[in-house]
Amino acid sequence: MSRMTESVRKVLSTMKFDISSPEETAALGQVFGAASVPGTCLVLCGDLGAGKTNFAKGVAAGLGVTEAVVSPTFNIVQEYRSGRLPFYHFDLYRLNFEDELEQIDYYAIIEDEGVSLIEWGDKFPALLPVDYLLVTIIITGSAARTFEIEAHGERSLHLLMECAAALGGQSSGVDA
Ligand SMILES: Nc1ncnc2c1ncn2[C@@H]1O[C@H](COP(=O)(O)OP(=O)(O)OP(=O)(O)O)[C@@H](O)[C@H]1O
Ligand SMILES: [Mg+2]
Repeated sequence: MSRMTESVRKVLSTMKFDISSPEETAALGQVFGAASVPGTCLVLCGDLGAGKTNFAKGVAAGLGVTEAVVSPTFNIVQEYRSGRLPFYHFDLYRLNFEDELEQIDYYAIIEDEGVSLIEWGDKFPALLPVDYLLVTIIITGSAARTFEIEAHGERSLHLLMECAAALGGQSSGVDA
C-alpha cells in the first residue's frame, strides 16, 4: 500500500475519544463490550496506570460478566464465563518470551469465539491476529485520557463504527 493510501486508511479507521474520569473510561469500555461479537480482539497499549484494566472492567460489564474483574498480571490470562460470550483478559507485561504464550493456549484462545482483551498487546506485534482493534491510551492529565482506537480489519471496523454511533457526538476522527 502506498504511503498516501495508508494514511487515508488510518484516518478512516481511527476514532479518538477524550475522557475525563475513570468512570468514563469504564463506560467507554462497556460500549465496546456490549457491541463485541465472537472473535473480537481488543489490543490495549498505554503507559503503566493509563487505564487499561479500568477499560477492561468496562468491557467485561458490557459483556454481562458478573464476576469481579482483577488484573491478570501474575497469571497472564484470566477467563470469565458469566457473560454473553467468554471473556479472556490477558496482560503481557510480565511476559518475556513469545513461546510462553503457547503454554497458556494464547493462539487457541484468540482464534476462539470469545472476546479477547490483551493489555500490553503491542509488546509482541508478530502475535496479533489478523483482525483487531488497537486501543492506545494517552495520559493527558491526572484524570484525563485520550483513547485512539484504530480498526485493523473489516470486522473491527464494523465494531468501531457501531460504537462510535452508540457514543453519539463524543468522538472524532484523527489526523494521520
Ligand atoms: N480517565 C481515567 N481512566 C482510567 N483510569 C484513570 C483515569 N483517571 C485516573 N485514573 C487512574 O489511573 C489508574 C489506572 O489504573 P489501571 O490499572 O486501569 O491502569 P493500567 O493501564 O491497567 O496499568 P498497568 O499498566 O499497571 O496494568 C487508576 O488508579 C485510576 O483510578
Ligand atoms: Mg492493567
